[in-house]
Amino acid sequence: MCGIVGYTGKREAYPILLKGLKRLEYRGYDSSGIALQQDQHLQVYKKKGRVAELEELLLGKGLHAHIGIGHTRWATHGEPSDRNAHPHVSQSGKLAMIHNGIIENYAPIKQELVSKGYQFHSDTDTEVLLNFIEEIQTQNACSLEEALRIALKRVVGAYCILLIASDDPETIIAARKGSPLVIGIGKGEHFLASDASPIIEYTREVVYVNDYEIAIVKPDELILKNLGNEKQTPYITRLDMELSAIEKGGYEHFMLKEIMEQPETVFDGLRGRLLAAEGKIIMSGIEQHLPAFLSAPRIIIVACGTSWHAGLLAEYLIETFARIPVEVEYASEFRYRNPVIHPGDVIIAISQSGETADTLVALESAKAQGAFIFGVVNAVGSSIARLSDAGAYTHAGPEIGVASTKAFTGQVAVLTLMALKIGYAKGTLAEADYLNLLLELEQVPEKIREILSQSAHIQQVANKYKDATDFLFLGRGYNFPIALEGALKLKEISYIHAEGYPAAEMKHGPIALVDENLPVLFVATRDLYYDKVVSNVQEIKARKGKVIAIITKGDTILPEMANDVITIPEAHEAIAPILSVIPLQLLSYYTGLAKGYDVDKPRNLAKSVTVE
Ligand code: G6P
Repeated sequence: MCGIVGYTGKREAYPILLKGLKRLEYRGYDSSGIALQQDQHLQVYKKKGRVAELEELLLGKGLHAHIGIGHTRWATHGEPSDRNAHPHVSQSGKLAMIHNGIIENYAPIKQELVSKGYQFHSDTDTEVLLNFIEEIQTQNACSLEEALRIALKRVVGAYCILLIASDDPETIIAARKGSPLVIGIGKGEHFLASDASPIIEYTREVVYVNDYEIAIVKPDELILKNLGNEKQTPYITRLDMELSAIEKGGYEHFMLKEIMEQPETVFDGLRGRLLAAEGKIIMSGIEQHLPAFLSAPRIIIVACGTSWHAGLLAEYLIETFARIPVEVEYASEFRYRNPVIHPGDVIIAISQSGETADTLVALESAKAQGAFIFGVVNAVGSSIARLSDAGAYTHAGPEIGVASTKAFTGQVAVLTLMALKIGYAKGTLAEADYLNLLLELEQVPEKIREILSQSAHIQQVANKYKDATDFLFLGRGYNFPIALEGALKLKEISYIHAEGYPAAEMKHGPIALVDENLPVLFVATRDLYYDKVVSNVQEIKARKGKVIAIITKGDTILPEMANDVITIPEAHEAIAPILSVIPLQLLSYYTGLAKGYDVDKPRNLAKSVTVE
């Protein structure tokens, strides 16, 4: 949610900022802009639309500077437009700032500034904060750093900001609370960004800035301070991400690349953890805290979006195998309804980015109440990973496409391992079943590969239904969360209104929508509910709905009834969801593609939602 990038050093800043913005575009793409400082002068360029439009605007301008900041925006305050695009410039014209986050109390501060004669040129909270900093500096005749510190003590909300001044050719001042910031350490140069992707090709040494820290960054110096003006020791970590992981590698879209990578990413999530032949699951985060899991009166899963769907599936898995009651909470609701957390409750936080503000805030408040937090996170070193008491990374690699695909299957793989490990340790999962499930899990990457080989058929199905205005996704048991995820994927990518429902619950409402124009997708693999789902298919057929069914190989009944079928390999019913979601990802990808939409950057969405 907004990407920010900064550079100070000997190189030309503009190409570094531009490339960085392209890498961060998944975080927001309403508008973008840059500010460069040269010869005591700030040059600011900004443009509504994609980074490519900014690039076109700046083509041939011959921009030279050795310090600069750049921003790609996901609008909060103020519509997407040139004037609301960042960077913003202060009233005096001497400061330029970019911001990721929300200043919640901007309105009274703005009033205060207006009464002092400040004029505003945008609708943003960022311009308010910037002028507030300038006003404090003028009034107190203090350094910019000091003014920033005073301003941040008055501010309510979340931010990562980068600030440059026309009279300082070297320094970027940065601050963070709630929105991520990574600083890359080069030789006589520093790189700043919302994540490591703009930094990785220049240096692997990075510092993750913590909440309530201010960074004073010059080419040869990095000083970190807290809001009390005390110096903090920067903790340098080494990135182990590969550049190829954040490039398209020959695919037309990141989303397709990430769908196609799933045999490898799921394998990576299982590697070193699943030892099927030895009947073992090795997960040090669980082993170190096994008593907490075994004695937990309850597990609460907290997540948003696709990660919430992985959490819902985990509820079925954990309750079945480990017999621990599970509640799955939308992070945004959990935080504000004053939830009851008992001593001993375990919280599992699920997040691809590890930066989702709703999840982060929910966890902070649960932690303050003494809860034990186990993170299932993809982004290494992210805020949620660092806040967790223990955890298991999903190891899916960087996910760039805004619609989550490989991160979801990575989450499901890890959560399945957890449920089996805890269940077996608790004695609620019999050894024979446990061993069988381990073998099943081991076969998942190969089975995903088999499904992916049918992508041409799935594309045909997508083309057939691409003009539908509504879609219903139905599933029962383990396939219910998959129906929800299928509906979410389709609406994100193709803008077709889609609803996911428990197949039987469909009778209590959505059936009223069924007519000859409504495609209804059933996730109807062979499981405990199969016969009942077949009856639900009949109910739809009787009302002339079009049925698409995801079925298990060898099923001879549903192909007779459904208009279209997509087959997945046979699997245990608890393992099948990680397979049945794959055709739904491809279906939404090909539908969005057929409709000519930008599948990697669907309208209004952002990959990492760092505002509440
Ligand atoms: C956004 C993304 C989704 C993601 C959700 C939660 O809405 O577009 O793909 O599932 O945030 O994000 P997280 O990073 O916490 O999994």
